[in-house]
Amino acid sequence: MSYKLALFASGSGSNAENIINYFSGSSKVECPIIVSNKADAFVHQRARKLGIPSFSFTAAEFRSGEAILHLLEEYKIDFIVLAGFLLKVSAPLLAAYPDKIINIHPALLPNYGGKGMYGHFVHEAVVAAGETESGITIHYVNEHYDEGAIIYQARCMVEPGDTPEMVAQKVHQLEYEHFPRVIESVVTKD
Ligand code: GAR
Repeated sequence: MSYKLALFASGSGSNAENIINYFSGSSKVECPIIVSNKADAFVHQRARKLGIPSFSFTAAEFRSGEAILHLLEEYKIDFIVLAGFLLKVSAPLLAAYPDKIINIHPALLPNYGGKGMYGHFVHEAVVAAGETESGITIHYVNEHYDEGAIIYQARCMVEPGDTPEMVAQKVHQLEYEHFPRVIESVVTKD
């Protein structure tokens, strides 16, 4: 049996592409669709290049969940992976996928999480605070931003003089290295 993931992404989608490449040819995990809340996000171009259908829904459609759940059912999706997805996951999706929604956050939660803490805002805050390390947190999603149970963390050094862009690059490297295999171990564990 093969597990099917829906990748949710709001922007560039480099993590989504990395995950798709990791599982291409896998007999255990498939990534049949990409879902976004932005019709003009670069992730749609990546999807076209990779030959994977991508869909866009409005914030209101994400809140209601109905059309998205219909799509997820049509593709027999088992897990949702948030790979740079910036909207809060609504109650209908959480109810339909209990403990089956996984997020990646570009910092060491519980620090630098919550509403408005995404992408470069996180790295700017980490540098402004003079942190000596940052990293990634992979966690289950619940009704509160960035508060679900932590599955895995990895760390990187923040050197004196590092810019937010330099920290972002180190964090992205950790994401590419760890996120696909952590997803694999979560979805294939039962
Ligand atoms: C990633 O660094 C991811 O951790 C972060 O957005 C970036 C998306 O990059 N997610 C969040 O900040 C969620 N709060 P990508 O579109 O190139 O994969």
